[in-house]
Amino acid sequence: MNETNLGRRALCKGLLGGVAGLAIGSYAKAKPSMDEAAKVFRLDGGDITYAFGVNGEGQLQTLYWGRKLADSDRLPTPVSVRENSSNETSITVTPLEFPAFGGGLTVEPALKASFPDGVRDLVLRYEGHELAEDRIVVRLKDIGRAVHVTLAYAMDAATGIVSRSATVENRTASWMQIDQLAAASLNLPYGDDYQLSFLTGRWAGEFVLQTRAVTPGSTVIESRKGVTSHQANPWIALSRSGTAEESGPVWFGALGWSGSWRISVDMDALGGVRATAGYNPFDFAYRLKPGESLASPIFHAGFSADGFGGASRLFHHYQRTRILPGTRLRPVLYNSWEATEFAVDEAGQMALAEKAASIGVERFVVDDGWFGKRNSDRAGLGDWVVNAAKFPNGLQPLVKRVNDLGMEFGLWVEPEMVNRDSDLYRAHPDWVIHFAGRPRSEARNQLVLNLARSDVYQYLLKALDRLLNEHNIAFLKWDHNRAWSEPGWPDAPRGEQQRLYVAYVENLYKLLAELRRRHPKLEIESCASGGGRVDLGIMRLTEQVWVSDNTDPFDRLLIQDGFSHAYAPAIMMAWVTDSPNWLHKRVTSLEYRFLSAMQGALGIGANLKRWTEEDFAKARRLVAEYKNIRMTVQQGKLYRLVSPQRGSARSATMSVSQDGSQAVVFAFLHSPGVHGDPLPLLQLRGLDPDRTYALRPISGAVTPQTPKSASGAYWMGHGLRFDLGGDFQAAAAVLDRM
Ligand code: GLA
Repeated sequence: MNETNLGRRALCKGLLGGVAGLAIGSYAKAKPSMDEAAKVFRLDGGDITYAFGVNGEGQLQTLYWGRKLADSDRLPTPVSVRENSSNETSITVTPLEFPAFGGGLTVEPALKASFPDGVRDLVLRYEGHELAEDRIVVRLKDIGRAVHVTLAYAMDAATGIVSRSATVENRTASWMQIDQLAAASLNLPYGDDYQLSFLTGRWAGEFVLQTRAVTPGSTVIESRKGVTSHQANPWIALSRSGTAEESGPVWFGALGWSGSWRISVDMDALGGVRATAGYNPFDFAYRLKPGESLASPIFHAGFSADGFGGASRLFHHYQRTRILPGTRLRPVLYNSWEATEFAVDEAGQMALAEKAASIGVERFVVDDGWFGKRNSDRAGLGDWVVNAAKFPNGLQPLVKRVNDLGMEFGLWVEPEMVNRDSDLYRAHPDWVIHFAGRPRSEARNQLVLNLARSDVYQYLLKALDRLLNEHNIAFLKWDHNRAWSEPGWPDAPRGEQQRLYVAYVENLYKLLAELRRRHPKLEIESCASGGGRVDLGIMRLTEQVWVSDNTDPFDRLLIQDGFSHAYAPAIMMAWVTDSPNWLHKRVTSLEYRFLSAMQGALGIGANLKRWTEEDFAKARRLVAEYKNIRMTVQQGKLYRLVSPQRGSARSATMSVSQDGSQAVVFAFLHSPGVHGDPLPLLQLRGLDPDRTYALRPISGAVTPQTPKSASGAYWMGHGLRFDLGGDFQAAAAVLDRM
């Protein structure tokens, strides 16, 4: 059996094998089981059971996904849903684990294929299975043709999160074309009150939480852009009408894919609700020669009975322990972009580095402008050599100075892009994604290199490897500033040109993994004009993400709230920048900017040359405070106490360390305005009611009546009130368990 599905996992493991601290394989595994007599498979982990079985038609049918069942519970052999009429045949209303287009299927398929003889019909039947240590592998095959599909299910023992993927193998004598391939179909328990939540946005306005009722028909969220995109993020949550932040059921999941993707949430004619997630079928075609196979991306799906808060805490835990390449706390970073843009040079960056070091920054990052003829966004991309006019002595003296100041050195790159005005483009105009003889649309004056090509891959590997060999670079900010256009690959054989959608992303992952293998201490940030490439695929290879180019600390509260529904604060970079903010000129205090950014992984992006002594003193104090709480903020359990969504007057979050010894509360007053009590008592969460916690404000004040210490029951039942008044005010406090 050629299990490319497992192959991809093995590839992931292999790719990541050299990365220190990789979690895969090092945690307890959920036990898969099978009831041979009933033909029922079951995965139990955390508080979750996921079960499916083989029905009388040989189809794989969903049985159960939700709160853990008793070990003694026996699930019966699934029975396909009876035909309702000649219009609602069984196949269109039975909850199938992996429906293929064929045999009368009219609902969303997980797989659609076509063959050289014109046939476009696939009917998959159960063939066999393997129970591995931590996963179930099920083999399906078409009723006539040698088309084999392997489904893999693995469950994380701690969280009960299931990762699912599928591999299609062509064992016929001729080619076959895959027109659509998803990781999975996920069927929800029957219910008529589902709400779908998802994240949409735009540049400088990412991670906006959307919620709508699930009704007959489809909701499709997708990217057609070749990259994950700002416009929609591949995460969904399905809740019931009574579900709230801390109570009620939530089924959630995210696709690990950094190219064009699609998630479709459908309600069928009889009210069955399912989600299908995979490659975006738009403009998709992947031709398999005999013997070849194609694996889907992985969809990671979980369930919580404890509302959206419970769901995101589970998902954060899973990401930190099973997806991210390491567990190191994020260092406090400085980034030059907003301070100097393209005008970087040795003296200027050294001056910034000295100031950054003086406030406790641990990693100094030179952003755009250091390479090629890069004086604006019109030139230089592709030429990854140090600009000799700006750095006549190379980068070495700056790197050394940064290291001598006790900081790591980091550098911005945008490897997948090229400006027309670059030596690379002049030498290799055919290396970009394009259609022969057709115009090549530019965005930000740049074109996208076709990373699916092996020569492009080799060029980038060599250029970046050289850069990393020649300098002590601890960190790369890896950017991607435009969507694809004219997605052609004219040099590939006819019929294989659309492999681009998959091959590009696979080579991107391979390139990141190979650089990490060669430079085991290297850390990477995923950036795409802000948060345009945040997903569980890239997260396996990057320690952190740049969430948005919008660094306004108030806007960030909303963006971070949306982000935290899907992704861990451990990866969420947030910078303190200047006021008025560059984007829409809002004026805020330095404390407010700090507290907003301290909810994630703290960075500084301000022009320190303009700071006063007082600013430095405040920053020094708050950076030191941050270092005391960052373990809790980055790796603790997040409670969204008061949501900033929908124009509310205030917001508050709280993080509790994994061992329960520390909690941190952040509160923001946006505008006292007309939205009710601007200063509510914040009822805390996640504390031990019977233990005593000492309160210590780290910025702003609590009201005079507040006790210095009290029980968890007091803080959670009675609450805590900060003394805030006026627009854009913030406060934060630490609770230490005594
Ligand atoms: C993108 C990034 C910014 C900055 C610029 C540099 O917009 O999101 O943070 O790095 O590119 O050109």
